[in-house]
Amino acid sequence: MARRYFTTPIYYVNDRPHIGHLYTTVVTDVLARAARLAGDDVRFLTGTDEHGQNIEKVARKEGVAPIAVADRNAPTFRDLWKTFGISNDDFIRTTEPRHRAGVEEMIRRIAASGDFYVAAHEGWYCAPCEAFYPEKDLVDGSCPVHGGSLEWQKEENVFFRLSRYEKPLLTLYGSAPGGIPFVFPETRLNEVRSFVAAGLKDLSVSRTTISWGIPFPGHPGHVVYVWLDALTNYVSALGLGGGDQALFDRYWPSPSGGGRAFHVVGKDILRFHAVYWPAFLMSAGLPVPTQVVSHGFWLKDDRKMSKTVGNVVRPDDLVASFGVDPLRWFLVSEMSFGHDASFSDEAFLSTYNADLANGLGNTLSRAVRMAADAFGGKTPSERCDDNEVKRAAGAAVRAFTEAVAGYRLHEAAGAIRALVSSIDGYITATEPWKRAKAEGITPALHRIHHNTLEGLRIAAALLSAIAPGTASEVLSRLGLEKGASDVTAADLAWGQLPLGTPLAVAPPLFPRADPKLFFANLANPKEAKVTEEKKPDAPNVNETAPVAVSAVAAAVAAAAALAAAAGPKISIDDFLKLDLRVGEVVAAEKVEKSKKLMKMTVKIGDEVRTIVGGIAAAYTAEQLIGKKFVFVANLAPAKLMGIESNGMILAATLPETGEPSLLTVDQAVPSGAKVK
Ligand code: MSP
Repeated sequence: MARRYFTTPIYYVNDRPHIGHLYTTVVTDVLARAARLAGDDVRFLTGTDEHGQNIEKVARKEGVAPIAVADRNAPTFRDLWKTFGISNDDFIRTTEPRHRAGVEEMIRRIAASGDFYVAAHEGWYCAPCEAFYPEKDLVDGSCPVHGGSLEWQKEENVFFRLSRYEKPLLTLYGSAPGGIPFVFPETRLNEVRSFVAAGLKDLSVSRTTISWGIPFPGHPGHVVYVWLDALTNYVSALGLGGGDQALFDRYWPSPSGGGRAFHVVGKDILRFHAVYWPAFLMSAGLPVPTQVVSHGFWLKDDRKMSKTVGNVVRPDDLVASFGVDPLRWFLVSEMSFGHDASFSDEAFLSTYNADLANGLGNTLSRAVRMAADAFGGKTPSERCDDNEVKRAAGAAVRAFTEAVAGYRLHEAAGAIRALVSSIDGYITATEPWKRAKAEGITPALHRIHHNTLEGLRIAAALLSAIAPGTASEVLSRLGLEKGASDVTAADLAWGQLPLGTPLAVAPPLFPRADPKLFFANLANPKEAKVTEEKKPDAPNVNETAPVAVSAVAAAVAAAAALAAAAGPKISIDDFLKLDLRVGEVVAAEKVEKSKKLMKMTVKIGDEVRTIVGGIAAAYTAEQLIGKKFVFVANLAPAKLMGIESNGMILAATLPETGEPSLLTVDQAVPSGAKVK
């Protein structure tokens, strides 16, 4: 069993957590959960970075002791991680005695190797970064990270002989023990390599201008530089410097075994982790971590989200309206790991509606309700061991595992999305409700439902790493007693669904959200909560409608306005000129360069034709394929973006947003049937 140690950066307590902090913690949680799922022995650490100038400044402003600021804010992080289901085994605060013991041990070891000396030091200092920047790194005389102004600081400091570690660091970057390079991704490894190859200056590791820190042993009046202090959390939390080093021996890498240590960090603090930290450890005679895994930034208005810039998005409103898992899912599936991504509420809502409301939520409701209807509220009593859902599930497990191993977490989410979509397609293709009507309850019907439910069970097992609360809920609806944390590698194998056991039919997991209503209500998030509507009877109709609590009044007003605005009456003969038909979408693709247009191949009776509709902003091709809708069949052909359209798909227009909501029919109705 592999032993793996995952860490997040420890967060400064002068800020409240925002989406950027949440991202680092969530992706580390996904990695830790996925490793546990694979059967590894995992330890997961997070915590807070409580010393340094920034905290001291806040405390001075408030007229309180720095520890009071830390004591007030550290629980904000701890509580948020709890709310988000973060599975950390430990939470370290740098003001704890166990951490101070670890820092003192590091300093004792580094001093023993002769790597400290005292010298005068002056330079440009960025307070938010707690770092000096050489003149050449400044951007227009300002901080290269925040763009903020810098202070010229001058003091006598203890220096660390970083320059001594140039060669050992380059050797470290060139090696990849066990096939694992020291930095992920490779582009960042190359940046770090060039930085070190350009020459390293010794680093000042004590401060006399501030007093809020760990006293530097042997140097009265000096406190330990906050980065030497903070980085040491990764080993002090394992017991280095304390009486018991069992955790250190078990999880920290060592030449004679040990574990593998992975530090997940944002690219802003890669240099501290990939240059200073291994150099400190080498000097201290300790093994270096296995890998520093660096991710990109969440941007808002094209700039890194940060308190200093003033463009942060806090998770509070979204969580109040949607709960935590939609945000976990969005952060993981939306950002291509390692790259930057822009945060927008619109993107969040569209992912929520596509993947969770229409995707997983709708498929689960359909599958559970149909099986419960067919088998008296129970799971089927026959299983099926060779079928397309089984193959899709196997492919999803493989794709998920490979993606996680390569930190392509967005692809891991994509593997789950693809599995759910193939289950949805399977339901549509096999039409179990139709068979039940035509043939009654047959062994074949048992097998069809077994496939859909078993496929969903495996999707939930994979999802346990990304959205654990949702995974537990899916498992419980399938009648299983285990939650996301109990899922193991064995659960990824086909055929574990108990036969003939009770299913839990419940309201849709994720009611559809209406973007316009959501934004209108953002100022009052409690009212903006998405809600569910009465379930329609047809099995394939989207089970939820996009509404918000405060939308009801708006909808009533809109209906009244609609009645008032209705135009002149038409005769029945006028109406009968329309040839309305049920058609089945057999293929669909978004029209390139158009935001709204979807090109569909539609089967109407025996005839197959191309119909283009303005629905691509509201529906994906996958949501259409295999489903039946109502079409105007006798519309004169028209060219849209160069494609000839022979007909029109009918949709209701949502009063608030103008978004189309397609008219669906019971899937039992044959294509070509006339609508009147
Ligand atoms: N205290 C240091 C870390 C010490 S680790 C030994 C620190 N803290 S921080 O609170 O400012 O930021 C911690 C981490 O939050 C960043 O490194 C990064 O991982 C994450 N993020 C902060 N803003 C971010 C974005 N806008 N986008 C993505 N992640 C970002 O640095």
